[in-house]
Amino acid sequence: MKVKAAILEELNKPLKIEVVELDNPKDNEVLVKMVATGVCHSDIHCIKGDLITPPPVVLGHEGAGIVEKVGSSVTTVQPGDRVILTVAPYCGKCPACLMGVPTSCENYPQTAMLMGSMPDGTKRLKRKNGEELSHFMAQSSFAEYAVVDESAAIKVRGDAPLDVVCLLGCGASTGIGAVINRAKVKAGSSVAVYGCGGVGLAVIMAAKLVGARQIIAVDMLAKKLKFASELGATDLVNTSKDDPVAKIAELSAGGVDYAFEAIGSTTAMTQAVHSVYSRPGGMAVILGLAPIGATFSIEAWRFLREVTITGCTVGSIRPQIDIPHYIDLFMSGRLPLDKLISAHYPLAQINKAIKDTIDGKIMRGVITF
Ligand code: CU
Repeated sequence: MKVKAAILEELNKPLKIEVVELDNPKDNEVLVKMVATGVCHSDIHCIKGDLITPPPVVLGHEGAGIVEKVGSSVTTVQPGDRVILTVAPYCGKCPACLMGVPTSCENYPQTAMLMGSMPDGTKRLKRKNGEELSHFMAQSSFAEYAVVDESAAIKVRGDAPLDVVCLLGCGASTGIGAVINRAKVKAGSSVAVYGCGGVGLAVIMAAKLVGARQIIAVDMLAKKLKFASELGATDLVNTSKDDPVAKIAELSAGGVDYAFEAIGSTTAMTQAVHSVYSRPGGMAVILGLAPIGATFSIEAWRFLREVTITGCTVGSIRPQIDIPHYIDLFMSGRLPLDKLISAHYPLAQINKAIKDTIDGKIMRGVITF
């Protein structure tokens, strides 16, 4: 079928809107008519060439829409269902999936999904001249329709506003899941969050939800810190003025129980670990994607305090369970996802949405169709 899509032709150039050919879903796949899709920093990383997805590529990976058609073996969704498209499709059969960690699926690894194809290694998108287009995170939601693996289409309740809950496809789930699933932040504990973009703000929201006593937001931009305080941060640290490790130690009587790194900077990762050193059993959770090959080092004797340093991919979510759960929390007013969104744009204004995101003018932008 013919669909309008935004294509990244060359790195660091505006996206081009073109009519492209989208193949029918295969047996295990679903065709979704897009209603809304978030603009996430990973799209921008791809535009800047920080990721391995080869252009020309149709970006977009926080889509939400309505199922239009399903392949012959699909059982979990049917035409008419409202779905969130998650960046964490999974096979359901490998050891990681069976152990309840589908975000580390061995058959649909996250790295493979950044290589530009569907999980089976093939592509569904072509230009009029027959040139194949890369997929982004096996989703490519900057388009009127998308074909995705069945496990990536999460059926959600009919009354959830898709132009808000689409953020659960990637960024919001990453932050919320890190708090609830990975760190299991305890009520009454103290938390520091490095980086107040979409993911960091979702961490703050979730930390408040689970009853953290102190939530320290860390960023270099005053504007982002203001958003953080609106969402529940109790203390703010501006790294353009203060050393965050020292300031956190001062604010929290030595250090915090949990520190989340949501930037992808090895400096911030080191600082996050240093922020939990003094707490017995402190935990540093690394969410950001560092450049491939980057390393950081820490003082080894500090492990005497039994600190934990853990990675966390897409919030360690089990998409079919957690995304509907987070939507219930939003619908009951306990998780204000709508506050993350500052602007909606039509697909025709995708380049403005991207520029506003890069310039830090908006918290999160959403494209609506
Ligand atoms: Cu993302």
